[in-house]
Amino acid sequence: MYYSDEIIEEVRTRSDILNVVGSYVQLKKKGSSYFGLCPFHNEKSPSFSVSPQKQMYYCFGCGAGGNVITFMMEYENMSFQEALEALAQRAGITLPQKEYTPEEKRNADLKRVLLDMHKDAAMYYYMMLHSPQGARGLQYLTDRGLTGQTIKSFGLGFAPGTAGSLYRYLRQKNYTDEQLKDSGLVRLRERGAQDVFWNRVMFPIMDANNRVIAFGGRVMGDGEPKYLNSQETRIFDKSRNLYGLHAAKKSRLDYFLICEGYMDVITLHQAGFTNAVAALGTAFTANHASLIKRYVDRVVLTFDSDGAGMKAALRAIPILKEAGLGIKVLTMKPYKDPDEFIKNLGAESYQERIRQAQNGFLFEVGCVKNEYDLSDPSQKTAFHEQIASRLLSFSDEMERTNYMEAVCREYAIDFGEMKRKVNSMGSRLAPAAKVYEPPKSTAKKPDPEDGVRKAERLLLTWITEEPSVYEKISDIIMADDFSSPLYKRVAAMIIDQAKAGSVNPGQILNAFINDQEEYKEAASLFQMRLPQELAGQDRNRAFTETVARIKKNSLELASRSADIKELQNLLMAMNELQKLQITLD
Ligand code: CTP
Ligand code: MN
Repeated sequence: MYYSDEIIEEVRTRSDILNVVGSYVQLKKKGSSYFGLCPFHNEKSPSFSVSPQKQMYYCFGCGAGGNVITFMMEYENMSFQEALEALAQRAGITLPQKEYTPEEKRNADLKRVLLDMHKDAAMYYYMMLHSPQGARGLQYLTDRGLTGQTIKSFGLGFAPGTAGSLYRYLRQKNYTDEQLKDSGLVRLRERGAQDVFWNRVMFPIMDANNRVIAFGGRVMGDGEPKYLNSQETRIFDKSRNLYGLHAAKKSRLDYFLICEGYMDVITLHQAGFTNAVAALGTAFTANHASLIKRYVDRVVLTFDSDGAGMKAALRAIPILKEAGLGIKVLTMKPYKDPDEFIKNLGAESYQERIRQAQNGFLFEVGCVKNEYDLSDPSQKTAFHEQIASRLLSFSDEMERTNYMEAVCREYAIDFGEMKRKVNSMGSRLAPAAKVYEPPKSTAKKPDPEDGVRKAERLLLTWITEEPSVYEKISDIIMADDFSSPLYKRVAAMIIDQAKAGSVNPGQILNAFINDQEEYKEAASLFQMRLPQELAGQDRNRAFTETVARIKKNSLELASRSADIKELQNLLMAMNELQKLQITLD
């Protein structure tokens, strides 16, 4: 980490969580917390809470939780550094200059320079589009049905036909040849400098944080290549960015529409489908898939209706599936792509096609079918075997059965026969397939581990909300009594702070900020519902039981590796525990 703990803590304390989160999410006061619709999953009634006392947020629906810094990281898709910088700026704090090695400094500076340069270039192209020189470009975009508002919101522009005009503009803005040479915007030749893009309408490509990182340029009319894209640079990695993501991530729908082209994305957004994104003229990668998974759990593919589009969909499906995304495939027939479809049939028909979209698996099977002549019995058999082997890829039995039913219904195959085929194929593959079998369901038996964890969370929440209760148990429960390494770490911090008089969850979470799983889990430790309605003896009993449960588990664990002498002590301690009676207040 580049910044000291002190400065991180200063930024955190001066960024009130209610204020920051409140600027993104509508919150209503309820008791000592504020509630709103969770920005991290789709829901209709609010389960997302913000606690000003704890300086943290937590969603009882999806388990998202953390402090003000992690909120920025998650919501704005920022790195820790970026989140800290954004919050510092907001709070008017000047961060100390980071100590970079000269190499790091050159890289960081170049990155910042390239981002500024792209912003300037986008501004230039935008101005050109609205200048007399750009009239042709504006006409082209208008002819394609784009409104002024759309042109503005996607920042579309125009690269004039005069060689080197962007180059001169950027030089005038004080960028050096050294900085320009790796930007992908100009080519420096002995004869002089040339712009990469000329006489094209320009599509700025933005990252999830609205920063221009590259461009695509289209010829107006016919010409080759139809689209020209920025080469990859320090700030542009095709496999980690999606066109339209900066807008789609704000759409609040629980799925993305994935299409193939710039114009498709733009037309869809203009028609109200603001959840559309596209890969940037490349095949779909696992990086794209996990980027999408950060925002949604489902996708609807809306690739071109031609053979190429179908192939692209077939390639993308396994990659998206691997990332755990639910997949549907939409058909735009008889039209080629979303742009054409919406121009011809309108947004409502498109919405209807979304509703009718086919399940990804059935789409795959449908494509495979075209390779077989089903009037030929031996080919028909081969097709059925192909289906059976694909069904085997579902490791969950219920899921497999459901797909088997669906596919048999669609192709009028006898369910019993398909089942036998799948089973016999499965047993032939058994040694290999076994590996993929899910563990036998143990979910029905209550896991004693879970009970202990729950007691541990309850106690930690309790101490957080009433630090004085720790005095009563300070000689019984120590951080080491908690069962997992993460719980031990959090407990140690809570106990330290409780001894000092007040517990500050927002601060404790700073320690886990580098690992999303960890800070989420740590956040959950502060979120148990205390038995507040209990009073007097009932309250004492509940507290005592919680403490006893945790201690008993800890003693049992210790006894597993104890020698005889220790064992006697542990057994004695366990006996003592049965008599435990704690009286609160
Ligand atoms: N593409 C590209 N380079 C090309 C052709 C296409 O990078 N020479 C990418 C672009 O991102 C384009 C997408 O592939 O948006 C889809 O290409 P295509 O279907 O040919 O174009 P459309 O999106 O239909 O473009 P338009 O409607 O402007 O013809
Ligand atoms: Mn098109």
